[in-house]
Amino acid sequence: MNHIGIMFNVRYLDPLRDGELVISFYKSLSRQSIRSRFLCMMNDVEECVKSLLSSKPIIYGVYSNDELIAVGEAYRVNNAYEIALAVKDEYQGRGIGKWLVGLMLKDLFNRGAVRVYAYMSLDNIKMVRISKYYGGKVLFNGDSYKVVFDSVNLRLEGIQQLSNIA
Ligand SMILES: CC(C)(COP(=O)(O)OP(=O)(O)OC[C@H]1O[C@@H](n2cnc3c(N)ncnc32)[C@H](O)[C@@H]1OP(=O)(O)O)[C@@H](O)C(=O)NCCC(=O)NCCS
Repeated sequence: MNHIGIMFNVRYLDPLRDGELVISFYKSLSRQSIRSRFLCMMNDVEECVKSLLSSKPIIYGVYSNDELIAVGEAYRVNNAYEIALAVKDEYQGRGIGKWLVGLMLKDLFNRGAVRVYAYMSLDNIKMVRISKYYGGKVLFNGDSYKVVFDSVNLRLEGIQQLSNIA
């Protein structure tokens, strides 16, 4: 797929088999990206990611050639999913996060999700823009925002299906 001049594709990653890959990805992020992703200054990224992976999320890996450049996760909570994602610092601001959130939303609602939500820091302008673009309701949640997507407000026209990803 050609997007903003970069060839990339997405595939599911396995929480067990690909765990080390996901940990390395997160360890490669800047402190600022870690803070935005985890909503705090994480001292032990490895332990935190290991603990998250133990709950067996759906993991979406975005590759450019052989490089893992973005990772999104979806954690199932009853009939809803909490999503979170990160794009490698040097690839941020090129539309990859917006594209990946669209794919994740489409995939999760296709899987029968009633609601999808995400948390983000109050200064996360990019994530708030992405959320509003897809029709998410942005709610104050103390020192963060909670964004809720449901089938009534969702706007996913033209977003591709993930049915053919590996
Ligand atoms: C937040 C994040 C996922 C967004 O992905 P991205 O690829 O960098 O963002 P995009 O290029 O898709 O841009 C998304 C929107 O922000 C806008 N944007 C891009 N760079 C921007 C900047 N520096 N300042 C303000 N807005 C910006 C884009 O124009 C776009 O809005 P639009 O569609 O209305 O034009 C990514 O920056 C990231 O990984 N950040 C660290 C981890 C994080 O915050 N995760 C989210 C927690 S759930």
